[in-house]
Amino acid sequence: MRKFFIAGNWKMNYSISETVEFCRQFRVKGLNNISSDIVLFPPSISIQAMIKTLEDTPVKVGGQNIHQEFSGAFTGEISAEMLYDSGSEFVLIGHSERRQYFNETDEIVNKKLKIALKSNLTPVVCIGESLDQRESGKTEDVILRQIKEGFKDISETEMEKVVIAYEPIWAIGTGLTATPEQAQEIHNIIRNTIVEDFSPQLGKNLRILYGGSAKVKNAEILLSEKDIDGLLIGGASLKVNDFYEIIKIAEKLTKK
Ligand code: PGA
Repeated sequence: MRKFFIAGNWKMNYSISETVEFCRQFRVKGLNNISSDIVLFPPSISIQAMIKTLEDTPVKVGGQNIHQEFSGAFTGEISAEMLYDSGSEFVLIGHSERRQYFNETDEIVNKKLKIALKSNLTPVVCIGESLDQRESGKTEDVILRQIKEGFKDISETEMEKVVIAYEPIWAIGTGLTATPEQAQEIHNIIRNTIVEDFSPQLGKNLRILYGGSAKVKNAEILLSEKDIDGLLIGGASLKVNDFYEIIKIAEKLTKK
């Protein structure tokens, strides 16, 4: 059984004080008996405050980005080691907003992935097609290319740490969600590709999250699909009640 992985990507939202307030409200809801993996990705400036406020809960914290070099003259950037040292255990890599607005190519994604693994961070690698690519029937090609290039020269042992998030760009922040069937189809392609490129065991254990307007209303139908092992949630993770409701749905499905 793959454990559910429910993650919140806060993007560029919430100040340090707003983060602390969210975490206070979140922890009083009762987090201790949760069996799914819960990870929040706040802006890096709030990571330490979040870790402190969520102390003694099972919630883990991750960064939204790292630079592809270990250190050096890269003004404004944060390295994988710095992120790890801040107490983060996870990092998002190749989110479509980074690919789109910050020109992150598959090659850069691959470099970031290698550095994250060397720095003991668990990478959540995001892949997904645009609306144009979907409408012109290129979804599968895009996904296969992102896997081939993004995971180039990554060993099977390293891959064991990786989580993949399938996030169709047309569904991110648009209110449009992929139907469970559409998502399941791509998740299945991703899993089969990992089986072929690495091993059946790895494919079986790999967690593949869905992201793109995941919310309370669609969490259950999405999480009920065979190859959907969790959600990467943007907008709905900023609302403490919604995020907690989604966690409860995952818990309910786990106990079935
Ligand atoms: P959304 O964002 O849930 O607001 O669509 C998801 C993401 O970008 O990870």
